[in-house]
Amino acid sequence: MCVSGLGVAFYKGWSLALAMFAIGPIMLIGMGIFGAIMQQNTLVTMKAYSQSAGYAEQALGAIRIVACFGQEKLEIDNYNRFLMKAKEAGLKQGGAIGLSLGFFYFCIYICYCYCFLIGGVWIDEGFWNHSEDRTYLAGDCLAVFFGVLFGLFALGGTAPAFNAINIAKVAGKSAFEVIDRKPEILQDDTTAKKHTLKGEIKFDNVTFFYPTRPDQAIMKNFTCTFELGKTTAIVGPSGSGKSTTIQLTERFYDPNEGRVLIDG
Ligand SMILES: Nc1ncnc2c1ncn2[C@@H]1O[C@H](COP(=O)(O)OP(=O)(O)O)[C@@H](O)[C@H]1O
Ligand SMILES: [Mg+2]
Repeated sequence: MCVSGLGVAFYKGWSLALAMFAIGPIMLIGMGIFGAIMQQNTLVTMKAYSQSAGYAEQALGAIRIVACFGQEKLEIDNYNRFLMKAKEAGLKQGGAIGLSLGFFYFCIYICYCYCFLIGGVWIDEGFWNHSEDRTYLAGDCLAVFFGVLFGLFALGGTAPAFNAINIAKVAGKSAFEVIDRKPEILQDDTTAKKHTLKGEIKFDNVTFFYPTRPDQAIMKNFTCTFELGKTTAIVGPSGSGKSTTIQLTERFYDPNEGRVLIDG
């Protein structure tokens, strides 16, 4: 529709069509602003949604503990707080879309106004239409006007598609960030030496913080040897770091200081 509209406009009076295009840059600026605003807001909204989804998943995963302490309402309230963030971002996005789309249509109506104005003047002055080899008539002006208008409207109709492309771009960015992330602990470390496991585990002056809680040391200068062939029990109150000891042995994490040695 864009191509045929513009084609007809140029066929019926290229000089007037060209004159109408003087308004094009304003329209492109309108579209550019629209795209930029969309992209930025989509990012904020999607982040807020993924945070709330992550929170819900965590609460649902541990629903037995939540229910056991009667904390369902607290969890729901917390989830709602995250949703409010998403709502705020969504509202802002709606406003921004409205404004930029409004600006876009403003440009189109300016185009109406501008074309009828110069069309009228050109007919009045007997301006030559090279496409038809005679002076401009009202019919030429209308044909050019509607040709350009439909062409530009068709271009404007692609705006929602641009929106979809923008959303896909933002989603792709987050996905590629995860794909491209280089973990510190490589699963298939080709430089590692092969050896048969015997089973002596040694913690050598280990200090460890969870990456998500860098302010709380789970272990401080912990040194201990779990000897080969012996059964060792790790005993301590809840939260004292028993599971963390196992996770360090499995190398789900690396210690911040010191070493965890298996068979030396
Ligand atoms: N993934 C984690 N991120 C941040 N802190 C954690 C994580 N896992 C455990 N912790 C914290 O580390 C401490 C030790 O936990 P843990 O090793 O599970 O103790 P235990 O198994 O002895 O009950 C606790 O304070 C716990 O809240
Ligand atoms: Mg535990």
